[in-house]
Amino acid sequence: MVNRTGKIYGINGPVIYLKGNTGFAMSEMVYVGGERLVGEVIALDKDRTTIQVYEETSGLRPGETVEASGGPVSVLLAPGILDNIFDGIERPLEKISESGGAFITKGVSVDSLDEMKRWETHITVREGDYLHGGDIFAEVPETRAIVHKCMVPPDLEGTVVSVVPDGSYTITEPLLTLRTGSGEERGIPMAQRWPIRKARPVSQRFAASVPLVTGQRIIDTMFPIAKGGTAAIPGGFGTGKTMTQHQIAKWSDADIIIYIGCGERGNEMTQVLEEFGELTDPRTGNPLMDRTTLIANTSNMPVAAREASIYTGLTLAEYYRDMGYDVAIMADSTSRWAEALRELSGRLEEMPAEEGFPAYLASRLSAFYERAGMMHNLNGTDGSVSIIGAVSPQGGDFSEPVTQNTKRFVRCFWGLDKSLAYARHFPAIHWLSSYSEYLTDLAPWYQDNVSPKFIDYRNRLMALLNQESSLLEIVKLIGSDVLPDDQKLILEIARVIRLGFLQQNAFHKDDTCVSMEKQFLMMDTILYLYKQARALVTMGHPMSVLKSENIFERVIAIKYDVPNDRLEMFAQYRRDIDSFYQRVLEKNA
Ligand SMILES: Nc1ncnc2c1ncn2[C@@H]1O[C@H](COP(=O)(O)OP(=O)(O)OP(=O)(O)O)[C@@H](O)[C@H]1O
Ligand SMILES: [Mg+2]
Repeated sequence: MVNRTGKIYGINGPVIYLKGNTGFAMSEMVYVGGERLVGEVIALDKDRTTIQVYEETSGLRPGETVEASGGPVSVLLAPGILDNIFDGIERPLEKISESGGAFITKGVSVDSLDEMKRWETHITVREGDYLHGGDIFAEVPETRAIVHKCMVPPDLEGTVVSVVPDGSYTITEPLLTLRTGSGEERGIPMAQRWPIRKARPVSQRFAASVPLVTGQRIIDTMFPIAKGGTAAIPGGFGTGKTMTQHQIAKWSDADIIIYIGCGERGNEMTQVLEEFGELTDPRTGNPLMDRTTLIANTSNMPVAAREASIYTGLTLAEYYRDMGYDVAIMADSTSRWAEALRELSGRLEEMPAEEGFPAYLASRLSAFYERAGMMHNLNGTDGSVSIIGAVSPQGGDFSEPVTQNTKRFVRCFWGLDKSLAYARHFPAIHWLSSYSEYLTDLAPWYQDNVSPKFIDYRNRLMALLNQESSLLEIVKLIGSDVLPDDQKLILEIARVIRLGFLQQNAFHKDDTCVSMEKQFLMMDTILYLYKQARALVTMGHPMSVLKSENIFERVIAIKYDVPNDRLEMFAQYRRDIDSFYQRVLEKNA
C-alpha cells in the first residue's frame, strides 16, 4: 500500500505541487494542510502530483501535509438542498455580506446539508421488494412546493430485508436495508453522494417536444427553448443578461431552479437572495425559494471553486431530474467560468490556444451543455435539465472564443444587442441575430396547446421584422418619404411589433410575465390590424390618414392595458380596428 499522504513543495495561487509518487488518484479529492482545505488532483506524473485547491491558499506553507480522501470530489444529495445557498463545492454560505464578501469556514469542517434536522418521511416500499438503482423508496416534503423522492443510489440494487416505519428521520439514518446480489447487506439512508464531474445515469434521452414556458414573449413566441434544451444569452456589459435569467428563474414553468452565480459581483448575488426571498411562485403561491437553490461563487471567491461550481450545479439538477422534475439551470456567467479555466491553465503552464484560453475550452463547454436533456430516468419517471448560460464577451464582441464555442453546443441563441439596450428596448434580445433550433420540434405543442395558427402567426411577425430591416437599409439611403404606402405600412406594423410585442417591461406587474394565450391574442390583434390597414392602403387610402388615427398606439399599449386575467378585452380591440377601418373609408369617401 502506497503512502496516501504527501508534502507540499510548491504553491502557485490555487495550484499546489507535491513531490514524488503520492499514490493519489486522478480527480481524487484531497485535504490540504493543517486547515484541511478541500482540493482535487488535476495532474499526476511519476514524480509530481498537481492539485487545485478550492479555497484561499494564502495561509499555506511548503511542508504541510496533504491527505487523500479516497474518492472524487462529490456532493451530498438529500433533502435540504432547496431554499439554500451554497458555494462552488456545496458548502452552505451563511451569509453574503454587503460588501460581497462571503463568510465560510475554511476546510472540511462544515457539513453540506443539515445532518441533525429530522424530516417527515413516508416510506413507499415494503420488505421483500426488489429495488433497482434509481428506484424511489421514500418521500419527504422538502419544501411547501417540492416533495423530495429518496432514491436508491444508481449503482446499487437488491432486496429490501428491513425497512423503518413512516416517521421523522435525519438524512444519514438508514431507512432500509438492502441485500445485494453478493449477499452483502447495506443500510440505505436518504443521503447519497455523487461525483460532480460525472453525469448521473439515465435510461434514455429523448427528443425535446415541450417548451420551457417563460412568460417572456421574445423567448416563448420567437425563440423558444425546449424543456431539456440549451440556450446562451451573450451580451456586453449591462445589456440584460442577469435580468433575463432572473425573469426566467422567476416565471418559467420549471419545477426547480438551480441558479449558479459564477464569478459575478457579490452584490448581484445579494440582490438575487433578497429578491427571490421575497417573491412568491406565481403558480403555487409558495415562496420562490421553495423551488430554488443558489450556488454562489462571486468574483472575490477562489477560482478553482468557480470552475467546480458549474458541475456542482449540474449534479444537483440531475438529482432532482431523477425524481421526475423539470429543472432549469441558470449559469451567470459562463465567461467568468471560462476565465477560471484560463487562469488555472496558465498556472499549470499549459500551451494556450485562442486568447489564452486552454485548448480544451471547447470540449469543456460541450460537456457542460451535453448534460442538459429530456430524460427517461432509471426509475421510470421522466424529467429534464434545461441549461441557460449567460456569456459576457468583452466589449460585446461575439467573435471571441467563449461565445463562438458556446454557439456550437447550444440550440438557442438569444443575442443581446448593445444599441437596443442603449435605446432601452428590453429585453435587448435582437430578433435578427437570435435563433432557436427547437421551433420545428415544438410546433406540434403550440398547435395543440395554444392555437393551430400559432406558428403561422409567429412566422408572419418574423417576416414583417425582416422586411422592416431591408426597408430600413433603403430608408437610410434615400429617406422614408419616397417609400410607397404599402412599404410605409410595413414599417409602421413592424414598429407595433417591436414596441408592443417584443419589448417587455420586467418591472410592470402585468407585462413582466405573459401567458401563451395572451401572447397569441396579441399577435392575432397586430396581424388583424395589419390586414385591415393593408386593405385600406390597397384601396388607395394614404398612410398619413391611417396614422392620424391612434389605433397603432392603442395596439402598442395592449401589453399594459389588458391585464392578464382580462383577456376577453381583446374582442374590444377587434371592434376598435373595425371602426378605424370604417372611419378611414368614410373620411376619404
Ligand atoms: N426586461 C427588462 N425590463 C426592464 N429593464 C431591463 C430588462 N432587462 C434589462 N433591463 C435593464 O438593464 C439593466 C442591466 O441589466 P443586467 O444587470 O441584467 O445586465 P447584465 O448584462 O447582466 O450586465 P453585467 O454585464 O453588468 O452583468 C437592468 O438594471 C435594467 O434596468
Ligand atoms: Mg449580470
